[in-house]
Amino acid sequence: MLGSLLLAGSRLPFVRQAVSGIPLTRKVVDRFVAGETVHDAVGAIRRLTDAGLTVTVDHLGEETLDAGAAAATARAYAVLLGALRELDLGDRAEVSVKLSAVGQALGADGHKIALENARRICEAARAAGAGVTLDMEDHTTVDSTLGVLRALREDFPGTGVAIQAALQRSEGDCRDLSGAGSRVRLVKGAYAEPASVAHRRKADVDKAYVRCLRILMSGRGYPMVATHDDRMISITETLADRFRRSRGDYEYQMLYGIRADKQQALAGAGHTVRVYVPYGDDWYGYFMRRLAERPANIAFFLRALGGK
Ligand code: FDA
Repeated sequence: MLGSLLLAGSRLPFVRQAVSGIPLTRKVVDRFVAGETVHDAVGAIRRLTDAGLTVTVDHLGEETLDAGAAAATARAYAVLLGALRELDLGDRAEVSVKLSAVGQALGADGHKIALENARRICEAARAAGAGVTLDMEDHTTVDSTLGVLRALREDFPGTGVAIQAALQRSEGDCRDLSGAGSRVRLVKGAYAEPASVAHRRKADVDKAYVRCLRILMSGRGYPMVATHDDRMISITETLADRFRRSRGDYEYQMLYGIRADKQQALAGAGHTVRVYVPYGDDWYGYFMRRLAERPANIAFFLRALGGK
């Protein structure tokens, strides 16, 4: 309930102004965001990969309403991918892209502009030997995002996509995307969605997550199990046994700054663990979703503001 209110409020410009304007907010943001520059991101990537983890890097930004800014985001990804190329991490590093940051929200031409910019990012990623995964945003964008995915996969078959268990349509999408070589990141879903399209109770989202997980783990693709939830991780292990998947046939993914101990433990046990590393100055939407996911984060935020 609190989470939904926070997500709804986070879209109001005066809330954005108020939260971004508090000087101490930055201190709390740093828990979830690797910094503002590519240099900051590279520092975090080095620390994580040195510790045996892999990464997917997100240049923060979303809902861009300006074609110039969308193109600038694609260029920022090219710079990031140049840096990844120098690090020479191979498939230990990839990038995550929000299509609304590269033009999807630009009205009638949005889909086309997003596809063109995403294609440029995929080309830069190929030159760097890195992969690309498309994040999934609110339910109104899913058809367009899956359309862009299909078009990209014609030339870049390794392109991955996030699917949100919270959406009622997602079991069908998982089935469609469970073919050989298909990389799918299964998440619970971080957006406030209407009951007409989404499961709203946490217990129902968790059950839907397990149903989607079963479809992906029994399929022929490459499931990327993106969760911090111990129960989902233990069910994944059971399904891996049942469907004879070895550790290289699926991976775990978690967010930067969340359950670092668990990330390390899974990697220590021989799993591929990919950490989602966001960086950049447009952190507001990402930060508010992290607060909304967990009431304890709001308390942490308020304590920091109170200087404790
Ligand atoms: P759940 O919310 O049940 O949390 C389980 C446990 O994890 C909690 O009890 C707590 O210990 C810990 N935890 C979870 N969130 C936390 C937080 N914010 N702070 C501190 N601890 C926390 N969503 C989306 O809609 N589109 C997308 O493209 C993506 N992409 C994405 C990539 C990756 C790599 C991850 C891990 C997640 C996403 N998400 C996402 C976010 C996802 O939808 C979801 O909101 C969060 O992962 C939280 O859900 P959990 O599965 O962790 O379970």
